Amino acid sequence: MNLHDLPSSFDQYQDRIRHPLLRQRITSAAAAAALIKDGMTVGMSGFTRAGDAKAVPLALAEQARRAPLKITLMTGASLGGEVDRVLTEAGALARRMPFQTDPTLRAAINRGEVMFIDQHLSEPVEHLRAGQIAPIDIAVIEAVAITDSGAIVPTTSVGNNASFAILADKVIVEINLAHSLALEGLHDIFIPKRRPQREPMPLMTARDRIGTSAIMIPPEKIAAIVITDQRDSCSTVLEPDADTAAIAAHLVAFFEREVAAGRLGENLLPLQAGIGNIANAVMCGFIDSPFQHLTMYSEVLQDSTFDLFDAGKLDFASGSSITLSSRRSEQVLGDIGRYKDRLVLRPQEVSNHPELVRRLGIIAINTALEADIYGNVNSTHVGGTHMMNGIGGSGDFARNASLAVFATKSVAKGGKVSSIVPMVSHVDHNEHDVDIIVTEIGLADLRGLAPRERAPVIIEHCVAEPYRQMLRDYVAAANQRGGHTPHLLEHAFDWHVRYAATGSMLPE
Ligand code: COA
Repeated sequence: MNLHDLPSSFDQYQDRIRHPLLRQRITSAAAAAALIKDGMTVGMSGFTRAGDAKAVPLALAEQARRAPLKITLMTGASLGGEVDRVLTEAGALARRMPFQTDPTLRAAINRGEVMFIDQHLSEPVEHLRAGQIAPIDIAVIEAVAITDSGAIVPTTSVGNNASFAILADKVIVEINLAHSLALEGLHDIFIPKRRPQREPMPLMTARDRIGTSAIMIPPEKIAAIVITDQRDSCSTVLEPDADTAAIAAHLVAFFEREVAAGRLGENLLPLQAGIGNIANAVMCGFIDSPFQHLTMYSEVLQDSTFDLFDAGKLDFASGSSITLSSRRSEQVLGDIGRYKDRLVLRPQEVSNHPELVRRLGIIAINTALEADIYGNVNSTHVGGTHMMNGIGGSGDFARNASLAVFATKSVAKGGKVSSIVPMVSHVDHNEHDVDIIVTEIGLADLRGLAPRERAPVIIEHCVAEPYRQMLRDYVAAANQRGGHTPHLLEHAFDWHVRYAATGSMLPE
């Protein structure tokens, strides 16, 4: 739709904007973006490319190109399409939080041009609500519809939308006609009370609904409505390969042993899976497993969720967003009614809530860039300094899960990088939070092991040669020095230093 050719009557949007007075607020993306001023904090919808605002951010970039302007941009998680790239190139981002995956923004962060606050995904709205960070001036929220009472029905993600809309001074809504009205009813919006009046979240199973189906705000806060018709960007997730299939097979075998030992039932416990190729492939591994009636209590629902539904393995999935590849997008979102009674999308502070994760006994499966011989995990910083994406929700889940699993291929960059190193160059998940490390080589079960016991288990089960022998030598020498967690501090980062200097962790 050409947003400059708006129709004179907006009655055609009655089914999408049911509050009659609000139909008068329909305007162009440029006019809506003009409400955003230099120095403002803007909360935009969007969580792992799903349900992001699509027109206003691009109009804002255009505005910033004409007259320099910088904002703090908060979202749920990563944005789709070109939004982070275009805003970065327009110089419009002073600060960005709490997660991103865009190469252009990543480079600007690593040049120190954009201040990136890498935060557990359950936390940003807590900080906002408590006034610990600058308040939201304007929220920009993508919606399927606005109800008779002015409540906002989100699209393919909930993320931080509800709190952004509630806490902002003004709200811009993007009504996206490309999303089916059948999405209405998928969402469960629950906002906790402010502390110290906070009560427990009354959620006992992954399928419970504890809130409302739309975001309730006073309609007068809606300052502008923009009509769009662009689909979500598809995920770039790759099909499982031999390595990721091997990782999945090791995990399935592990869970079979847990069931045989009576520690888990055949439906396991609710599963969480992180973003990316590895986590998606691991979930696909459950398709050919003996487990039945699985549930997910996760944040991102990727292709594998719907593959598991179609295979009859998964009974219910709770998340904060639906992010699909081009293979699955049209098929799932075009026929969402087929899955709707088995799905719920929640605010990310509910999907990732530490107390719920602990109480529901979530099995958390996330991905490491690198892990060390004692089980510390780096998920975010390449070479200890350069941001990849961010911690996302992995920390919300890992610390509180009944089983915290970290998966990685044993090597990266064609074997020039070992994913298991003497000491991680940055710590996102420390040894106290990590139960299982799994690579295509095998699985290390770290439960109940002291550091000196962990090292040989990780080395013998997860590491490929020649790195395996190099780590054996490192541990032998470190053990000579003594300590609860032995190290050769002057050599702990030799591999990283060598990689930076020569492009390979292997000795020349
Ligand atoms: N050093 C340098 N680069 C490494 C590396 C290492 N130790 N390990 C992996 N990489 C690179 C890979 O080469 C690949 O690079 P490329 O895109 O240039 O090919 C990239 O990291 C992704 O690796 P891949 O093996 O394809 O894994 P993935 O797609 O599953 O992503 C993470 C892995 C860790 C980057 C990703 O899962 C992530 O960002 N996790 C943190 C957030 C999180 O866990 N969230 C969960 C809930 S939101």
